[in-house]
Amino acid sequence: MADGKQICLDLTEGVKIPALGFGTWQSSDEELEKAIDCALKAGYRHIDTAYAYENEKALGRVLKKWIDSGKIKREDLFIVTKLPEIGNRPSGVVKYLQRSLDYLQLSYVDLYLVHTPFGYYERGEDLHPMTEEGVIDIDVSTDHNAIWKAMEDQVLAGKARSIGISNFNEKQIERIWNSAERIKPSMLQVELHLYFQQKDLVNFCHAKNIKVCAYSPLGSRGSSQLLGKELPDVLNNEVVKEIAEKHGKTPAQILLRHIIQRGVAAIPKSTNPQRILQNIQVFDFELSSEDMNKLNDQDQGKAGRILDFSFFKGVPDHPEYPF
Ligand code: A2P
Repeated sequence: MADGKQICLDLTEGVKIPALGFGTWQSSDEELEKAIDCALKAGYRHIDTAYAYENEKALGRVLKKWIDSGKIKREDLFIVTKLPEIGNRPSGVVKYLQRSLDYLQLSYVDLYLVHTPFGYYERGEDLHPMTEEGVIDIDVSTDHNAIWKAMEDQVLAGKARSIGISNFNEKQIERIWNSAERIKPSMLQVELHLYFQQKDLVNFCHAKNIKVCAYSPLGSRGSSQLLGKELPDVLNNEVVKEIAEKHGKTPAQILLRHIIQRGVAAIPKSTNPQRILQNIQVFDFELSSEDMNKLNDQDQGKAGRILDFSFFKGVPDHPEYPF
């Protein structure tokens, strides 16, 4: 387990996802192209993006360069993207997955996720269409079971190797799980870090053999501007620092290893070459059960959540708002 090799999680038959992936939310195109180049050099193969991040074209350019030069094979990559809120309906699945594939210059993605359980009306290209009252123009007709059927069709059409959901709660997952006649969701991507460990949700998913992937695994420092507030600093937690010192590792490496040892994937984001490299160097050591218990005790439960989408005014009024 700790021999320096990447750990993979089995998603579906023959589909394995590297547990440590590369997050790309909130990066400019220029920053991202450099960061992806650096991440591929460092050994990352799982890269996470979304239509709504508006960076798929930049990612696609770097992937094409690496594939065309023969430095990497398509089948060695694990590319994840997501259906945007403005496409949260069956016709949107077909349209937006094809658009993502065009932008990424790929013929299939390895995992396609429904980005959020709530949906918006589609008004041209605007990712956050607003009403005259200044709130997001939510489409309350979002029908998860109908969307899921369209997701399954994409696997059968060869455009996605596996499918899943993101930001869904237990009730919503259960509903899709029960309705899915052909392909069950294989992944749930949610906010998860030291102060918000999502223990019940992880247990619930693992009992259904749904894997979990942690976004904001380092506490999403980059979101403090978006949220207009200081965020709790998981990297400076005293327990984390003490365990880091004991292992001769950095706090970020302890936080990521803690998540991976729980059987959960993580997609830290960085644009800094040293930190990109550091974040994938988590397979050459192991946390003891005592370390794990101490880290588990740092959980703050629901109070630890950073991102609840309420910064998008009107979204909490959607009937499928999950939190
Ligand atoms: P930077 O891009 O300058 O490295 P998350 O993945 O939880 O959203 O966290 C991303 C934030 O954490 C970014 O602001 C990133 O900044 C920072 N970050 C990423 N890796 C590390 C690390 N190893 N140590 C400290 N901060 C990090």
